[in-house]
Amino acid sequence: MKVLGISTSPRENSNSDMLLRQVLSGASAAGAEAEYLRLCKFNIAPCSACGACYATGECPVQDDFAVVLAKILAADRLIFATPIFFMSVCAQAKILIDRCQCLWATKYILKRPIIGPRETSRLAMVIAVGGKKGGKAFDCIRLMMKYYLDTVDMGYFANLFVSNADEASKIADNADAMQEAIRLGKELALTAGPVPEKPIDVELTG
Ligand SMILES: Cc1cc2nc3c(=O)[nH]c(=O)nc-3n(C[C@H](O)[C@H](O)[C@H](O)COP(=O)(O)O)c2cc1C
Repeated sequence: MKVLGISTSPRENSNSDMLLRQVLSGASAAGAEAEYLRLCKFNIAPCSACGACYATGECPVQDDFAVVLAKILAADRLIFATPIFFMSVCAQAKILIDRCQCLWATKYILKRPIIGPRETSRLAMVIAVGGKKGGKAFDCIRLMMKYYLDTVDMGYFANLFVSNADEASKIADNADAMQEAIRLGKELALTAGPVPEKPIDVELTG
């Protein structure tokens, strides 16, 4: 079982990154092979909407996207961690999401599979942390990730959303969030599916 965690926050001591590491340690404790990837270390340009992938299924832009894409396609489980920026994902996360348009084109225009047949479902979890209290901070992400995870052939397994955690590292003092992250990491690694009708939703406040 390969579990890939993608940390998209650009800052050091990021709250969403800390939760991601907890989820990965939970998955490792359950016997999974966990890989951590910090997106800002990769050089990935935004989608230029050139349209080439609509004919080929391939993105012609030569940068680190190919490396990250190969890891996403090889993973059995994906954990996508983002800060809330203006009610949505951060720019680094959005760039990766948009570049996956080549997978959308492969599936829905060229009508070809993006991965080979598998015995069990691929499953994903989303982590998001916002600085403000509650409200609608996670509404946009829920919808965006539903469509993104469908595009990358990942069943939407769970959300871990934490609001009211603004300063870097603040999440480390939130015992509930840190424990939930470990629990969900274990659950994500141990479940064999099927994909839940609605993702497990854990929403906490800092
Ligand atoms: C550009 C920018 C936009 C932000 N927009 C929001 C927002 O819309 N809602 C919110 O709750 N927090 C917002 N925040 C606060 C961050 O979500 C918060 O600091 C969070 O802890 C960042 O997560 P990270 O430490 O993983 O980067 C914003 C922060 C920045 C820098």
